Order: sequence, then structure tokens, then C-alpha cells
Amino acid sequence: MKADTDILSGKGLTKVFGFGAQRTVAVDQVDFSFKKAEIVSIVGESGSGKTTLAKMLLGLLKPSEGEIYFEGKLRDIRTHKKKREYWKNIQAIFQDPFSSYNIFRKIDAVLLDCIRMRDGRRLPYDQKRAMMQEACSFVNLKFDELTNKYPFELSGGQQQRLMIARIFLLKPKILLADEPTSMIDACSRATILDMLMNLRNDIGMTLIFITHDIGLAYFVSDSVYIMEHGKFVESGSADDVILNPKEAYTQRLLSDVPKLHEEWDLSTV
Ligand SMILES: Nc1ncnc2c1ncn2[C@@H]1O[C@H](COP(=O)(O)OP(=O)(O)OP(=O)(O)O)[C@@H](O)[C@H]1O
Ligand SMILES: [Mg+2]
Repeated sequence: MKADTDILSGKGLTKVFGFGAQRTVAVDQVDFSFKKAEIVSIVGESGSGKTTLAKMLLGLLKPSEGEIYFEGKLRDIRTHKKKREYWKNIQAIFQDPFSSYNIFRKIDAVLLDCIRMRDGRRLPYDQKRAMMQEACSFVNLKFDELTNKYPFELSGGQQQRLMIARIFLLKPKILLADEPTSMIDACSRATILDMLMNLRNDIGMTLIFITHDIGLAYFVSDSVYIMEHGKFVESGSADDVILNPKEAYTQRLLSDVPKLHEEWDLSTV
């Protein structure tokens, strides 16, 4: 294993829910290796196990079997302290941005928490404020208009952007995006993708997209993993997997994409 370039990898990772007649193998013996600053997409139909895998990667769900390696070493999150340390490195944005906020915390408190997580607790307030302003302007939000608001007072699009402002402050090494853009219009989707790509270029973050949209995967990714019934049925570079699919399942996912070969142009949306 190339420990210097693999940021996150896994061997035989498995999650089984329930038992007896209720038994579901949600993730079934998957192997993967994600590189530093790489953009990876995990593509599969509803119920194929994508979110379950994401939760194991985040340390929110305990694998039934298999190992996860972070920066080449067996991941150890057995204590609360180690878990918090791990979460400085890996963060996620979810389908529903609202679910990721504590509704009793105002927006400046949400952002201050991120600065604190990055060991900025003792910085003078002016400096913290400048950091919050910078993060908000990165996502086209005006910090001064937001300080006294709660996340639920923002529009859906603003909530999405606040989520990215948090990531801007946290600067994790890995960001998992579980369909962050599926429920919003094409214009906001393009904006958010653009912001995430800029962030990846700025801080060398590894981006993992989880989606059913194989067209999106082709457009944004370096590598693609195709997931069916908890297994990776096909993986490789985006070009290899999507322009030259070997599995019937991948071909079927592709048959739903109207125009894959036309370049998507972010600037016109
Ligand atoms: N907590 C749970 N308890 C029992 N079964 C679960 C649990 N979470 C997920 N599952 C099952 O595991 C399988 C995979 O679910 P998962 O949410 O990972 O799919 P997904 O690929 O994210 O789907 P979608 O695209 O709809 O979000 C499904 O059959 C689901 O019913
Ligand atoms: Mg899901």
C-alpha cells in the first residue's frame, strides 16, 4: 500500500443490519483507496448502501467487519477524544442541510464552533470575526447580516452555502458530500459544485461525492466506484468506468443519462 498517497482506504468493509428474516447486508466486503486531493464518486441506485458506507467512513456507524485506514494507519476512534481528533480530518455535508444544524444555535455560534474545532479558541475576537467574514464571502453570504439569525431563518440555498462556509473554516482533509445538491435547482447545484471544487483546489481536500447521478460523477470525478447491493461492482478512473463500462449495471445506470458526452458548462447555468 502506498501509505504516502492513500488518505482513506478500506478492506473488506461490511455492514449488516438486523438478523434472521430482517437481516440486510447493506455494505458487503468493499475495498477502496482514496488519494489525497482526489475527487471520488460513489454511484449507485437507492438502497445500494452508499449512505451506510458514508456513515462508517465518518465513524458514525460501526462496521460489522473489515478495516478502515486513515493516512495509511488503521483508524482508531475508540475514545471520544480520538473521535474528535478524527473529525478534524473528515467532515460531511448531507442531503438535508437543515438536519446538520443545532436549531438552538445562532449562525455566528455555528461558525465559532468551527474555529474552536480548529484550535482557534484563544484567538482575539477581531480575528475570529475576520475568519467568519472570509468564510461567508467565500460562499456569497454576508456575515454582518447573519450574525443574529438562526439557521432556520435562512433560505434552503443559504443553508447549503452556510454548510460550505463551515467546511471552509474547518478545512478537513476529506469531505464527504452525500447528494448535497439533489434537491435544489440546477443553478444552485452548479454554484455549490463550483464552491466545493474551489475548496478542493485551495486546500487539497479529498472530495467524496455520493450520488445516483452517473453523469455528475463523470463530470466531476477522478475516480468512480459503482455500487450495487452493497458491493463495488466496478471501479477505476472516471473515463475508464464511464466511457468503457464493463458491467451491465453500470451500462444500465448510463442508459438513463441523456447526453454524457457534451461538456457541462458551469459558466452558462
Ligand atoms: N439503520 C438501519 N437499520 C436497518 N437497515 C438499514 C439501516 N440503514 C440502512 N438500512 C438498509 O441498508 C440498505 C442500504 O441503505 P442506504 O441508506 O445505505 O442506501 P443508499 O444507497 O444511501 O440509498 P439512497 O440513494 O436512497 O440514499 C437498505 O436496504 C436500507 O434499508
Ligand atoms: Mg443515501
